[in-house]
Amino acid sequence: MGLVKACQLSDLEDGEIFKAQVADHPALALYMIGDEVFATSDICTHGEASLSEDGYIENGQVICSWHDGAFNIKTGEPCRLPCMDPLKTFPIRIEGDEVFVDL
Ligand code: FES
Repeated sequence: MGLVKACQLSDLEDGEIFKAQVADHPALALYMIGDEVFATSDICTHGEASLSEDGYIENGQVICSWHDGAFNIKTGEPCRLPCMDPLKTFPIRIEGDEVFVDL
């Protein structure tokens, strides 16, 4: 699918997770940590929790509040049970105030 605009940089806040709906692709979770932005699939691989709605950022991980599982935000790798399967991750490109995701 290539680069697709996900949101404005000003939509993101440091330490917060933003849900981005891009075309007909499944929702993405965008994370701002300092001045870096990361993107993963939004749905926890353990259940159906939306990480942008039910997750929070802690030490570079997204914690899923449904069952306290965790993933590394940069790599998508699971860090804590009951999560065992990785999240998909997507490269980000920022141009001015626009955030693009490479799908
Ligand atoms: S749904 Fe996320 S840890 Fe269970």
